[in-house]
Amino acid sequence: MIIGLLNQKGGVGKTTLAVHMADALARRGCKVLLIDADPQGSALDWAAARTGEPLFPVAGMPKPLIHKEVPGLVKDYDHIVIDGPPRVYDVARSAIMASDVVIVPVQPSPYDVWAAKEVVELLHEARVYKPDLKSAFAINRKIVNTALGRDVLDALAEYPLPVLRAAICQRVALAECASVGKSVFETAPGHPACAEVSALVTEVLELNA
Ligand SMILES: Nc1ncnc2c1ncn2[C@@H]1O[C@H](COP(=O)(O)OP(=O)(O)O)[C@@H](O)[C@H]1O
Ligand SMILES: [Mg+2]
Repeated sequence: MIIGLLNQKGGVGKTTLAVHMADALARRGCKVLLIDADPQGSALDWAAARTGEPLFPVAGMPKPLIHKEVPGLVKDYDHIVIDGPPRVYDVARSAIMASDVVIVPVQPSPYDVWAAKEVVELLHEARVYKPDLKSAFAINRKIVNTALGRDVLDALAEYPLPVLRAAICQRVALAECASVGKSVFETAPGHPACAEVSALVTEVLELNA
């Protein structure tokens, strides 16, 4: 399955979730490729910061070629995760066209709800060519039991995308992984963030079942 993490807004958690979903899938025994579609190469930086064996290969593809390259790669992998770019529309479109499922990370902030309009529009356009494309919002950096969290769910309901039940909370353990090229499954096994990422992966796989 090809899972795209897309949102033109930067800082919503595309790279964090892409890396961790890829590792969660690898830990289930799947062969995984992570495609870094961001010209800034954050996922590549993450991989380069690592000492020791890579968890899975990371390929940089910051050009609108992803939908052309991915079909030739699917036979070699069980799952391909695409870490989407901010802004660059042609690359985002290409990533959407390559994906079976697009996950849109959003933080519980009205700014993120408004900014999601852009990616929702791109998904709407893509549906003409890909009527079977699945897509959903994933709440990232949730802070439990806040009015803000509930308001964001209400606001997102205005969009035609469902919101996944599995949310990722504000977890410093996830942020700390970036500089060492590791995943929270290695740095803090048993941490609640691990269960949250696992639940997210399970729900995303179900979307395409
Ligand atoms: N659930 C989370 N808890 C804590 N920090 C997070 C979480 N998700 C992302 N971050 C942090 O937020 C920043 C932006 O995340 P990133 O994944 O780089 O977003 P994007 O790829 O959308 O630009 C990073 O510093 C990252 O470590
Ligand atoms: Mg990123």
